[in-house]
Amino acid sequence: MSEDPVPIKAIHHVELWVGNAKQSAYYYRKAFGFSQIAYSGLETGNRDCTSYVLEQGSVKLVLTTPLHSRNGIGDHIKKHGDGVYDIAFHVDDVDACFEEAVKRGAQIAMTPHDLTDLNGVVRRAAIKTYGNTIHSFISTNNYTGHFLPTFEPRIYNEDPIGLRFIDHIVGNVDVGQMNDWADFYSEVLGFTNIIHFTDKDISTKYSALMSKVMESENGRIKFPINEPAKGLKKSQIEEFIEFYEGPGAQHIALLTDDIIYTISRFRDMGVEFLHVPDTYYEKLESRVGPIKEDIAQIKELGILVDRDDEGYLLQLFTKPVQDRPTLFYEIIQRRGSRGFGQGNFQALFESIEREQALRGNL
Ligand code: FE2
Repeated sequence: MSEDPVPIKAIHHVELWVGNAKQSAYYYRKAFGFSQIAYSGLETGNRDCTSYVLEQGSVKLVLTTPLHSRNGIGDHIKKHGDGVYDIAFHVDDVDACFEEAVKRGAQIAMTPHDLTDLNGVVRRAAIKTYGNTIHSFISTNNYTGHFLPTFEPRIYNEDPIGLRFIDHIVGNVDVGQMNDWADFYSEVLGFTNIIHFTDKDISTKYSALMSKVMESENGRIKFPINEPAKGLKKSQIEEFIEFYEGPGAQHIALLTDDIIYTISRFRDMGVEFLHVPDTYYEKLESRVGPIKEDIAQIKELGILVDRDDEGYLLQLFTKPVQDRPTLFYEIIQRRGSRGFGQGNFQALFESIEREQALRGNL
């Protein structure tokens, strides 16, 4: 018997509710190199919504859009814009995880139920987390289909750009709520707080944030929880919460083993990244010491580097991937470091604030 109260194996998928799933799926395929593996919609008997399943490495994204106004999907999109609805967990025993989580204080989003098709049965339930975001518990132990019931294969293979798995997903919550949500992950789901950044660690002249990184028992899931801290001007977290109209998933970090290749492909496809000032690279070598990558190439691609006791990491952040300044992606490569790039926060914040100022939100 495991001591983990709610044993979660991994993130099964992340579902985004979007205004136009067909066009979004095309963006993730062509710009992010995801292959489409499955589809659910009118042709598969789903008269409620259309979903496209995109896969690269072990990352699965589901893009869903409503087919009418009588379900909650349209309301979610009306309020939040495109964004993450469900960070779904893969578990063995849905009922046990759900009951334990609810016993420990989780709010119910979906009671346990079966989803069935010719390939077998999937058991599913869900609890609520920050904002209108949920965590599904999914067991596919009795299912041989390649995604979930009501989905059928509709495959478009793309050339992958090296994305392997979800490194972490950051949630932005309201002022004063970080500790409550960190407690939620530890008390309800058995996660551990592995890092705590205060506003002293993460601040610029204008804005600041605080963050606690929560990690699942098996170490495979990391959820930093951010809250805005007091600054002279509006922080990026406040801007997110204003435009998302509440707490939500701020960024999904995708891990690559070859960031040079991955970012080169992204840049070729026209994906926009936060601009890193040239001055960042002037002191890079003295700050991080020797790295395996070619500094000139790192600079050309605008990649950030940070070192800690265990090694270093390379990372870069996209601009928001929809019109509201809300959800964005991080691309990260780890060479020993298990951190989150604290040494880059300063340079990054200044870059983010430049973007905020352009949007009239600073
Ligand atoms: Fe991150």
